[in-house]
Amino acid sequence: MDAGEIAGKPLEMTLLHHVPGVSSPRVLLVGAGKPEKFDPAEMRKLAGAAVRRLKSIGVKSIALEIGPEHASGDFAGAAVEGAILGDFEPDRYKTSDDKKSLDSVAVVAPEGADLDDAVERGRIVAEAQNYARGLVNEPANRLTPSLVAEAARALAGEYGLECEVLDRTRMEELQMGALLGVAQGSAEPPVLIVLRYRPSQAASSAHLGLVGKGVTFDSGGISIKPSEGMEKMKYDMAGGAAMLGAMRALAQIRPAITVTAFIPCVENMPGGRAQRPGDIVAAMSGKTIEVINTDAEGRLILADALVYARKQGCTHLVDAATLTGAIVVALGHLNVGLFANDDAMRDRVLQAARGSGERTWPMPLEDDYKEYLKSAFADLANVGGRWGGAITAAIFLKEFAEETPWVHLDIAGTAWLDESKPYLAKGPTGIPVRTLVRLAEEWKE
Ligand code: BES
Ligand code: ZN
Ligand code: ZN
Repeated sequence: MDAGEIAGKPLEMTLLHHVPGVSSPRVLLVGAGKPEKFDPAEMRKLAGAAVRRLKSIGVKSIALEIGPEHASGDFAGAAVEGAILGDFEPDRYKTSDDKKSLDSVAVVAPEGADLDDAVERGRIVAEAQNYARGLVNEPANRLTPSLVAEAARALAGEYGLECEVLDRTRMEELQMGALLGVAQGSAEPPVLIVLRYRPSQAASSAHLGLVGKGVTFDSGGISIKPSEGMEKMKYDMAGGAAMLGAMRALAQIRPAITVTAFIPCVENMPGGRAQRPGDIVAAMSGKTIEVINTDAEGRLILADALVYARKQGCTHLVDAATLTGAIVVALGHLNVGLFANDDAMRDRVLQAARGSGERTWPMPLEDDYKEYLKSAFADLANVGGRWGGAITAAIFLKEFAEETPWVHLDIAGTAWLDESKPYLAKGPTGIPVRTLVRLAEEWKE
């Protein structure tokens, strides 16, 4: 430091060998930036960057030293999360055998600090997030809607959740015309996955419903997408994967609130039986929809899932969906777009997002926008005009959430990282698993 080589800039790294008095052969110093700006979110990045640097040189086991000034649950938990998230690689289908991954991460706490619970929670949450990332990264030929259902069943078996899978016949009985319309263009049958977590002792009468968009591939359907970049549309089930990840964590953390996940899963394809622009479908609530654009399929499947979630007794709803390109125009890749029909619910989710370090920004949702969805032939159209596309998509969903306090998270810009960061691999991010877990944990009447 005296020589000016180490300034302590954020994520600046200096690798030392054979430090006198230290038994480890290497010590990695990582810059943390200005002390007053160093918070758990920075700690998460720091740990991730350290892990990625060390595993790139073949290190298998590391110890993270937490200084006395950061010996709190928030910092320690974030460090563990960062380390585990940084270790994730989307390389499942690479056959080379020089794949790098850590075997162990230890946390070294200052004398007297009891960080065990925070460390354990961090591990559970980050592993759940990596589980979601793994699902999102699966290509559509290897993760069809039926296989997502199988994954949900396996998850339920492993962690003690209840799982129910509604098939096409059941959806027909329930008159889920919007969901079925999207599914009809694909050879792959649709499913609606229901995963239930019941606490041993509920502290509140609230029943939180988590609804996730599970489009295993979005070709656009008859309103087909341009081929450039279409391969990325395997990530159109990131909302659904996040719900599975959140349920996996909640089953282990066991907060005192009832939580049920609903994941409508379909493949949006332009097959011979595909729905056409101009088709009119009726959602489970009875509302009719003119399908102007078959590429606006997420809102159609979510409409039926939201209605079903309410019928199942959910008192509060959060959905997450890679819903619109327009949210990327509005917020770039840095913030999740948040829409709400209820101020208290909005504040709950914003607070959970802030605590989890998943940046989230509130968007407007005024009734005046409903005009944009007018249809001459049905109750509403599935797309608005050219402008405010993320808002009109949210307004569409609001018609099906009705009076139930509800938050919609548009994660189209944040569920996938196009370029790797020092602390995170390229590809699926697993957003908003941490926000959802925290929301359930922090729930108060
Ligand atoms: N899955 C897409 C949204 C999307 C776009 C996700 C880019 C991730 C990255 C969604 O189903 C879609 O196609 N939306 C259309 C809506 C339009 C037809 C009103 C869009 O955003 O272009
Ligand atoms: Zn689409
Ligand atoms: Zn889509």
